[in-house]
Amino acid sequence: MAAEDSTWHIVTVKLPIMLVFLAALGACEQKRAGGSVDGAQIYSSVCAACHGPKGKPDAAMVARINVRDLTSPELRSRVTSDLVEKQVRKGSDNKLMPSFEGALTDEQIKAVSAYVASPEFSKQ
Ligand code: HEC
Repeated sequence: MAAEDSTWHIVTVKLPIMLVFLAALGACEQKRAGGSVDGAQIYSSVCAACHGPKGKPDAAMVARINVRDLTSPELRSRVTSDLVEKQVRKGSDNKLMPSFEGALTDEQIKAVSAYVASPEFSKQ
């Protein structure tokens, strides 16, 4: 009886939990940033690792890959949604910033670009 009970437990309790878990993993692999189209959310999941959570990269990252400070007055004076979008699609010329074309959808690229170019971004 005890053995049957535990088989039943695996089928009714553990298996459904595992299937939900595997489905969630699959969804993550297909879409970066969980498919979110929220600019701030996309920024924190794909850009913040290099540019810092608020656009100001930490010194170690600057020393390693010369990452751009997205809050600097120089950048803020010329930033537009188009400029960010070009950068995100192509990556940097020196390839230290990768291209996100294909990794993010068009909608996600537009959302994160508008977010980085917005005045709210540098005010955080
Ligand atoms: C692997 C690290 C890395 C990631 C991830 C990354 N960047 Fe960059 N980014 C860089 C580096 C390095 C530079 C400076 C490139 C250069 O020297 O030309 C840069 C430069 C920029 C610039 C400045 C362009 C200019 O004209 O000065 C913008 C805007 C930018 N990144 C936006 C983003 C956005 C938005 C994301 C997320 C979708 C992102 N980056 C993700 C490394 C990264």
